[in-house]
Amino acid sequence: MWNSRDIEVTPGARCSGGQISASSTLEDSGRLMGLQSRLDRAHHVAMTRNAFAPDNALVRNCLAGRDALVVMSPSVHRLYGPRIRAYFEEVTDVHFMVLHRTEASKSLDAVVEVTERAAAVGLRRTSPIVAIGGGVCTDISGLAAALHRRGVPHFNVPTTLVGLVDAGIGTKNAVNHGRRKSALGTFYPPEHTVLDIDFLATLPRRQLANGLAEIIKLAVVKDRPLFELLDRYGMRLLDCGFRRPVRAADEIVWRAAAGMLAELARNQFEIGDFRRKVDFGHTFSPYIEVASGHSVLHGEAVAMDIALSAQLAHALGLLTEADLERILTMLETTGLALVWPGLSVDALCATLPSIVEHRNGDLHLVVPTGIGTCEFLGAADINPALLRASMAELVRRTCRDDIQTVQRRTLAASGGQ
Ligand SMILES: NC(=O)c1ccc[n+]([C@@H]2O[C@H](COP(=O)([O-])OP(=O)(O)OC[C@H]3O[C@@H](n4cnc5c(N)ncnc54)[C@H](O)[C@@H]3O)[C@@H](O)[C@H]2O)c1
Repeated sequence: MWNSRDIEVTPGARCSGGQISASSTLEDSGRLMGLQSRLDRAHHVAMTRNAFAPDNALVRNCLAGRDALVVMSPSVHRLYGPRIRAYFEEVTDVHFMVLHRTEASKSLDAVVEVTERAAAVGLRRTSPIVAIGGGVCTDISGLAAALHRRGVPHFNVPTTLVGLVDAGIGTKNAVNHGRRKSALGTFYPPEHTVLDIDFLATLPRRQLANGLAEIIKLAVVKDRPLFELLDRYGMRLLDCGFRRPVRAADEIVWRAAAGMLAELARNQFEIGDFRRKVDFGHTFSPYIEVASGHSVLHGEAVAMDIALSAQLAHALGLLTEADLERILTMLETTGLALVWPGLSVDALCATLPSIVEHRNGDLHLVVPTGIGTCEFLGAADINPALLRASMAELVRRTCRDDIQTVQRRTLAASGGQ
C-alpha cells in the first residue's frame, strides 16, 4: 500500500499585493484516508482620499500589473465613471461593467451576469474582480469572484457608508433568493478593500443615515468612545456628506471599520460559535426588509431592530432608562424611524425559528446592557407578549414624538403665541 502519511504539498501561491499560501496533508492509514487543508488569505484594508485621482497609486499598486474586471454601481458610473476609466487607462487590460441591480434584484442571476462578463473578457485566475459601489455591488461581485473559475481574487472600493463600515470590509457576500434575504452566499474575503470617504459627498442623505445605523450598531454594543463621537459630530457629518469636520469623519469611519474587522477576526468563518456582537440589529431586520418589499433600506431596518432589541433589554431590566433614551434619541436625531408601520409581531415571531436555525440552534439575540456593552439572549428569553409590549412602547413613543413635532410647528407658525 502506498504510504503517504504526512505528504505535504505547499504551493504557496504568491499573488502580488496579497499573499496566499496553501498547504495540504494527506493522512493514509490502511482503508481510511483524510486530507487536511489549510488556506491562508490576507485581506488588506487601506484608507485614502480621492482614490481615483491620477496621482493616487494605491489601487494601481493593489492590482500590481494584473488585468481586472471593474464592476460599478450605476450611480458610481454616472458620477465617477470617466474619472475611474481614466485612472485605469495606463493599466493594461482593465475591463468595465455597470451592474444595474438594486436590493430587489440582488439575486443569483446578477452573479451569473458578472461571471459571464469575466469569462467574456478572459479574466485570468489570478486577476481580480474590482467592485466599486454600494453593498449590492460588492456582495454580487464578491460572490461572482468566489464562483468564477472556482475563485478569483476580488477587491472592494465601497462608495456608500454601509459599504465603508460593513459590506465592503466583511468576509461574507450573499444574494437574496425567494423571499429569503442573503440566502445564498459564501465566506470569501476580499484581497483588498480601499476606503475613500470622498465618495460620501455625493451620497443622498437617506443613504448616509442608512449607513450611520451600522455605525450606531457597533458603537452601542462595543465602542462607547465611538458613540460619544457620533453624539458630537454625527449630525454635522450627515448634513455635509461627511466633508467636515475632516478629522471626525476619518476617525468615525476608521474606528467603525476597525471595530468591525476586530469582531470578524474572532471567528471569521463563523465556525462553532454563533454568538456575534455584530449581529446586533440583524435579527428582526431581515424580516422587515423583505416584508417591506425592500422599501425599508438595510440600515433603516437595522435601526428598527436596534430600537426593538434595546427596548426588550430595558423591559428585561438589562438596560437603564437613561441608556435606552440615549440610543433611541440618537436613532431619531439621525432621522431613522424606530418602527415600521407594516410590522406584525405575529409575523415577526413566525420568522424567529428560521433565525434560530441559521444560528445553529439558538437565537443569540444581541441586546445592549449599556453604551458599549451587550449580552446575548436565547430563544427562551423572548416571547410574543414581551415583543408585543416592547413594540407598543416604541409605537407610543413615535406617536408622542409626532404630536410634539406638530405642536412645535403649530407654535412656530403662530409666532410662538
Ligand atoms: N456582505 C456583508 O457583510 C454586508 C454587510 C452589510 C450590508 N450588506 C448588504 O449591502 C447592501 C446595502 O448596501 P448599500 O446600503 O451600500 O446599498 P446599495 O448598494 O443599494 O447603494 C445604495 C444606492 O446608492 C448608490 N450609490 C452608491 N455609491 C454612491 C455614491 N458615492 N454617490 C451617490 N450614490 C451612490 C447606489 O447606486 C444605490 O442606488 C444590502 O444588500 C446588504 O445586505 C452586506
